[in-house]
Amino acid sequence: MINSSSFRFLHSTHRVLFGANSLQDLGALAEEFGCRKAAVLLDGAFSDGPVQTRVGELIKPLAPEFHALPPHEPDTESVEAARTFLEACDPDLIVAIGGGTAMDTAKVARMLLSNPGPIENIVGPVGVKMHPHASLFICIPTTAGTGSEVSDSAIVAKSGTVSKQIFRSAEMSARIAILDPELGTTAPAGVTAASGYDAITHAVEAYTSLWANPVTDPLAIAAMQKLAVNLPISFREPGNLDARGECLIASMLAAMAFNSANLGLAHAISGALGALHHVPHGLANALALPWTMAFVQRDLGDKGEIVAGIFGADSVAGGFSTVRHLLDLDQSLDDFVKSDAERDALATAAMASGQVKMSPRTPTPEDMRAIIEAMRTPTGGREPHLNL
Ligand SMILES: [Fe+2]
Repeated sequence: MINSSSFRFLHSTHRVLFGANSLQDLGALAEEFGCRKAAVLLDGAFSDGPVQTRVGELIKPLAPEFHALPPHEPDTESVEAARTFLEACDPDLIVAIGGGTAMDTAKVARMLLSNPGPIENIVGPVGVKMHPHASLFICIPTTAGTGSEVSDSAIVAKSGTVSKQIFRSAEMSARIAILDPELGTTAPAGVTAASGYDAITHAVEAYTSLWANPVTDPLAIAAMQKLAVNLPISFREPGNLDARGECLIASMLAAMAFNSANLGLAHAISGALGALHHVPHGLANALALPWTMAFVQRDLGDKGEIVAGIFGADSVAGGFSTVRHLLDLDQSLDDFVKSDAERDALATAAMASGQVKMSPRTPTPEDMRAIIEAMRTPTGGREPHLNL
């Protein structure tokens, strides 16, 4: 079923620095690379707070300028605002601090400096040629989730529409990622849970993707092992730096895996839920994953047993149902999608996702519609059952 006889593995980030207080390496890195002017794009939650003050001090000789990003997921409007900021600043060091929003916005806005013109010129999941930008680009994730600090892609909604655009190029990637678990301790528990569930979804979907390969599999397994133990701890104990550090490493490993293996049906649905109903990405994955895994688990072979074992469950779907409940993410699709017509539209949009073809079991449109119908019922942490 899964062809591992030939494969390709892609990874573009040159250096990863990990550790509590590793943010302090920022100044030395700026010096090492001979940077003279810094631009910092940061999550709005950190704007004018201690993190901004600290970064300002660490790279003071580079006269850093700061641009706070709006709280919603990136769209073409917020990316264009970031492009305008970067053009005016003319930096040779660009730093993104925050979750996927900050990193994805910075990735695309930076590419617009070296690829001037309409943003549409560089849209596309494969085969897009982007000219490199000479700046040193450093990503500093503050939550364990997207792993955008080590992936070659970014997702940006097209403002005023319900479509999401994928950008992908090795030129977009961070040269350096700094993983500092101290930065996540102030995140609300709900953010820790939802972003962590996104990382879990990345790991299992990369592991069970038809494009999984002998390099991505160990990365995905390690990510699941770390998240199974440490995500519930991070959720309950926000200040537990060991657990937060393990989750940050896991989210990076999962992204290193999905950067080559791609994802699956939960992301097909969560992408459509984000575009059509603005459901936060991690929560959208939580709504979908137990049910998409209930659909594919009969075709997972040994991999199914391995995943279930990692989560201490009788089945893959049961494991993700339990974790979802533990993290207070066991919601009904009805909280966001209200009518049969909307559920039909959601199923159609999910079927159009490129992630569907990575699934170890290919759904028919009727299967997808049935999965979405099932998502209306919370599982209470129990095994989800699909009659498909
Ligand atoms: Fe995701």
